[in-house]
Amino acid sequence: MSLQKSFNIQTFGCAMNEHDSEIIAGMLTSLGYTDNKEKNNADVAIINTCSVRDNADKRFYGILGELKKIKENNSDFTVCLCGCMMQQQHIIDTVKQKYPWVDIIFGTHNIHEFPKLLTSVLSEKQKLVDVWEEAGEIIEGLPAKRDSHFKAFVNIIYGCNNFCTYCIVPFTRGRERSRMSADILKEVNELVKDGVKEITLLGQNVNSYNGDVDFPGLIYLLDSIEGLERIRFMTSHPKDLSDSLIQTFAECEKLCSYIHLPVQSGSTNVLNRMNRKYTKENYMKLVDRLRAANPGISITTDIIVGFPGETDKDFEDTLDLVKKIEFDSAFTFLYSIRKGTPAEMYKDQIPEEVKHERFNRLVDLLNEISLKKNKELEGCVVKVLVEGISKKNEDSLTGRTEGFKIINFNGNSELIGSIVDVEVIKGKTFNLDGKYIQKFIV
Ligand code: SAH
Ligand code: SF4
Ligand code: F3S
Repeated sequence: MSLQKSFNIQTFGCAMNEHDSEIIAGMLTSLGYTDNKEKNNADVAIINTCSVRDNADKRFYGILGELKKIKENNSDFTVCLCGCMMQQQHIIDTVKQKYPWVDIIFGTHNIHEFPKLLTSVLSEKQKLVDVWEEAGEIIEGLPAKRDSHFKAFVNIIYGCNNFCTYCIVPFTRGRERSRMSADILKEVNELVKDGVKEITLLGQNVNSYNGDVDFPGLIYLLDSIEGLERIRFMTSHPKDLSDSLIQTFAECEKLCSYIHLPVQSGSTNVLNRMNRKYTKENYMKLVDRLRAANPGISITTDIIVGFPGETDKDFEDTLDLVKKIEFDSAFTFLYSIRKGTPAEMYKDQIPEEVKHERFNRLVDLLNEISLKKNKELEGCVVKVLVEGISKKNEDSLTGRTEGFKIINFNGNSELIGSIVDVEVIKGKTFNLDGKYIQKFIV
């Protein structure tokens, strides 16, 4: 009697990587494997890596150390590495040299080939490195084993052409490739048939989607799908946020009042050296237009602190922009040198203690603003997609508002997966407390 084999995937990085892992899980499930949450006794371990900042790299090497111990006790344990780190030759060289027991290395452009690679490694008891430098055709129809039954990521564009000077992504994900709208609509229709209520369109820069329709055109098409309730997208680049896209926030009923619009810095000077192609003023005007089209829109952002050459004055510009815009929330990052990017060569790197001091000031300001914005919602009734039981309190449900804010409230677990009305009782810095408003059918 043969026991069913199992796999365990650990995923780092962005939604793109999370969705790639869902596809890897889908393909392995088709091969007859089961998903094993206990990484120590899975037959196949996959690490889907991220390289966007240095701390992601460090955690990866820690995990390899743990896997080595499992491998020592069980030579049949198969270790596979993929994702953005594997698209860099210097990392492959390090792995080969220091971790020669790793079985398979593949990249971001050939995840569809993973079942083939795994089968061949298992039958021939060999090691394999197969990383493509460039992406091939978009492969449609790969199975995906998604984490949620009512929310789904849908890729619309792969790669990035922007080459922000700090960023590794254009090197690990290749040039932009858009899917055809018919393929996207087919996937979304199937998801809706399976009960999905909310989709998030994915791309490093969704605004430059350029299939057979443009990005606003795609949103209008999706907005008319019956049964679909919510549309989101990630991530938008300010330089490509067109008036027609802004207009979709006024016109498309299913498009959530929410945008993640990474600003990176409030200093036009720094933005220039980051190769972002907009100014502080352009960005502020975009926010004005978004708020004119959709007054309640929730706006979140990414900010990098301590980019090479960032002066006190540049940093003050960032604080000034944050105060003027009042973001709902923001991800803040310490600038991290990435090998092979233009900013690696910039001479005027900022000392760690200066970076940290600026970082803390910025986070304090952002938190203060988040709290203020969340308090403004007290007393309002918001629509919430109920996602599950709250991690902190078993009696409480948790979900997200249209504005992507986490809200916790009491309610029956039968509500999970549906969109309900919740009154905001308390606005806090990182989330909201609410009260479920039961609807009585007369
Ligand atoms: N494509 C998206 C996000 C890419 S990575 C976009 O263009 O906005 C997510 C975030 O990581 C970026 O927005 C940026 O703020 C941050 N980031 C990227 N490279 C970084 C680096 N070298 N150091 C610090 N933060 C970085
Ligand atoms: Fe990186 Fe810039 Fe592309 Fe975003 S737009 S992935 S930050 S290069
Ligand atoms: Fe990381 Fe690659 Fe995403 S570097 S942030 S996993 S595109």
